[in-house]
Amino acid sequence: MTAAPTIDGTTQNATAQRLRLESLRKTYTARGREPFEAVKGIDLDIEPGELVALLGPSGCGKTTTLRMIAGLETVTAGRIMIGDRSVGDLPPGKRNVGVGFESYALYPPLTVRENLAYGLKARRAKDANARVDAIAERLEMTELLGMRPANLSSGQKQRVALARALVRNPPVLLLDEPLSHLDAGQRQRVRRELKVLQREFGYTTIVVTHDQLEALSLADRMAVMDAGVIKQFGTPDEIFDVPADRFVADFVGEPSITLLPGTGTGDGVRVGGAGGLKSAVAVPDGREVLVGLRPQDCHPTDGPGLEGTVLVFEDLLEFGLATVELPGLDTRMVAQVESGHPLRAGDRVTLAAPPERVHVFDAATGERVR
Ligand SMILES: Nc1ncnc2c1ncn2[C@@H]1O[C@H](COP(=O)(O)OP(=O)(O)OP(=O)(O)O)[C@@H](O)[C@H]1O
Ligand SMILES: [Mg+2]
Repeated sequence: MTAAPTIDGTTQNATAQRLRLESLRKTYTARGREPFEAVKGIDLDIEPGELVALLGPSGCGKTTTLRMIAGLETVTAGRIMIGDRSVGDLPPGKRNVGVGFESYALYPPLTVRENLAYGLKARRAKDANARVDAIAERLEMTELLGMRPANLSSGQKQRVALARALVRNPPVLLLDEPLSHLDAGQRQRVRRELKVLQREFGYTTIVVTHDQLEALSLADRMAVMDAGVIKQFGTPDEIFDVPADRFVADFVGEPSITLLPGTGTGDGVRVGGAGGLKSAVAVPDGREVLVGLRPQDCHPTDGPGLEGTVLVFEDLLEFGLATVELPGLDTRMVAQVESGHPLRAGDRVTLAAPPERVHVFDAATGERVR
């Protein structure tokens, strides 16, 4: 592999900065409408050079959070710290934050090259053109440099927006769904290059994404958000293996986790008339819980487990997915079955998961039982 050109000849960003959000809140107020609290006091402490993926359902406050950090939206309460500095009172241009937002328009009269070089020239960077060439090559968009924004496809625009955020080599980088319009192949390649650039230059980065694979492949840590609150902040493994509550368990993981109503048996759980499973955590006898079982962890067994009837079996070549009906339960269970052991609709099957993979949540609060 030939050495990829660097943007400014350096291999690391000496100015990588810690980014902290402290009790950050946003309430939108519009005349004639009830105030709406979109961000409800969130805390995040991101290490210098760390990449954090921000995940959550539509409307949970991801873009609002990024816009407040960038200075594009006022802060209702709380603090934003970049390094040792509280930046809440600084205008966007003074925060030294690179943003790649879909809504952040390009200047229509300028070519892509001029758009990319604009901020650099304004700051009197001498090597602006060389830097633009380097970043364009790495994001597979050299052929776009002479074009005007109006003539770009949405995927091309997105790469230009990403390049514009990166070309300044910002200490803090905020990207909102940066790859959503790219086709599958390009999406993977640009994703990899983004990670390489991020490692090379050490931008402290937040990436909003709806794509779990993208989050997993990019992130050092993930923050899972719901209705204006951060539900869990941890490494991908922590979030997958030890979800803090039923929302996180349900939101992260493909195929989705199965959540079944059950009751504690001391050293495990009982699930209706289907049977029982041992759990690593003690669950008081009779406590009402939700039992979380990831399809990847559930396998047919000859021993004790949950017994049901196969409703459908999807053969996905590398493995199969069995959807199983359990007696007396509305919720169906999904289990990943090794290829070579296909099941058929109507088969009776007993499924079990190792005790440390049996997730138990309080039925009322949804919190993980620890
Ligand atoms: N300018 C505004 N005025 C009033 N409410 C707003 C405004 N901008 C956003 N909201 C509301 O705040 C909430 C959070 O919006 P936000 O755009 O941050 O969500 P998001 O997590 O980025 O969602 P998506 O995944 O759909 O982009 C939503 O309920 C939205 O309707
Ligand atoms: Mg958004």
